[in-house]
Amino acid sequence: MGRRGHAIMVALPYQGHITPYMNLAIKLASKGILVTFVHLEFIHHRLASSLSEPDPFSMARKSGLDVRYKTISDGFPIDHDRGDDMYWEFMLQSFWIRVDEFVGKLIRSDPDLVPFLVTDTLFTWQTAVAEKHNLLMVSFWTEPALVFSLAYHVQLLRENGHCPCKDRVEEEINYVDGVKSVNTKDLMPYLKECGTGTIAHKVQMKAFEEVKKADFILHNTVYELESDTLSALNKIQPNYAVGPISFSSNLPAPVTRTLWSESDCTNWLRSKPSGSVLYVSFGSFLLASKQVVGEIAYGLLLSQVSFVWVVREDADLPSGFRDEITERGLVVPWCNQISVLSDPAVGGFLTHCGWNSVLESIWCGVPMICYPLDYDQPMNRKLVVDDWKVGINLHEGEYVEREEVCKKMTWFMNGGVSEKLGKEIKKVSAKLHDALENDGSSEANFDRFVRDLKAKLAANAE
Ligand code: UDX
Repeated sequence: MGRRGHAIMVALPYQGHITPYMNLAIKLASKGILVTFVHLEFIHHRLASSLSEPDPFSMARKSGLDVRYKTISDGFPIDHDRGDDMYWEFMLQSFWIRVDEFVGKLIRSDPDLVPFLVTDTLFTWQTAVAEKHNLLMVSFWTEPALVFSLAYHVQLLRENGHCPCKDRVEEEINYVDGVKSVNTKDLMPYLKECGTGTIAHKVQMKAFEEVKKADFILHNTVYELESDTLSALNKIQPNYAVGPISFSSNLPAPVTRTLWSESDCTNWLRSKPSGSVLYVSFGSFLLASKQVVGEIAYGLLLSQVSFVWVVREDADLPSGFRDEITERGLVVPWCNQISVLSDPAVGGFLTHCGWNSVLESIWCGVPMICYPLDYDQPMNRKLVVDDWKVGINLHEGEYVEREEVCKKMTWFMNGGVSEKLGKEIKKVSAKLHDALENDGSSEANFDRFVRDLKAKLAANAE
């Protein structure tokens, strides 16, 4: 191809999406593609206030990569509360108009380049913009291929009475090509009765209409872990497993990435014996209920287990908890999760099963105790606990109760179950590491994707 490819990327404003998407930008640039990476203005302000360097790609450029950084307004004041449905309703209907204007200007300013879109599957502006400017569309999925496949086949689920399906119904879904069998109890809530009237449902449904028009789909997973699902999807559209993207050893420059300042846990962890600390975090935007947080807090106190707990500002810790934990526990508002998980003192992770957390935990060889909250997390739990056997459930009954929490944590952290899990997690972890070796599947898939992309761009540019 004579003219150079130009990837245009606009980030979905959530931490769990920003990290892998920024690393994807770097990875694309490392293959000689020019990237324009765009954050919403309010995210830029958050990053700029928590980091000394406001341009998150300055290091990448210093190391020779061609990544341009820009911002775009969503039309709301910087300090607007974006947690409500109205905001997402607006984004769903109208945000594409702003992106369209932005992309149009960008294309006109660089007529020698061949532009294309690389979008987060869940950011639903892509088809309108791609169609208007006749652009190729690459869709990046940040969750497991299993979750993708179920949402992709929502029409089949509807025909079988599983979307919506009553929240307490437990039936097997065994009619989706590439998905052996999953139980409706693990189905994503936005497909179940409780979630079908929500904005999350609307966004997901629109996203899965749009992704069917994508030229290429990238998955932040590993082929060896989800081969049947990915092979079945490949019969329909070109899908490539390229994860875990944030650990790509070939990334030439780390990107500054978190929206909050990180507390340093290193010194505290250094004082703890190997494998003795439980790391507790429920991710970046959902909160466990006050009742659950309370039971976990008292369960931890009863258990005598040492812990680091990420409690974001607005969580509901029981009053007096911080005074009672003494030097056995450390509560922080945010930390560098990968560095905590890599610390030899950490032996377990109580997690909400966000996909990044799952990948990071497996990468670091840390077995999990699972308490999924929403979205893809119940299905991720099934992969972790039932399929890969690298984690256990926090509770078996209907409610989380402190005695059970205490028993589980003590058992888990004192070598009972975790020795067995430790063996399994080594195997699964090796699959992740192998996939990112030079001859590994994710590296090979990424190179294949870049070749296919360049060929298609060249054909379209003729
Ligand atoms: C949600 C979804 O459930 C997830 O599957 C989807 O891919 C993104 O949106 P989220 O709550 O953000 O996820 O969790 P997760 O995917 O685990 O991502 C959280 C990220 O924040 C991780 O990369 C983790 O390393 C980081 N983190 C978390 C920190 O850096 N510090 C912390 O203190 C806590």
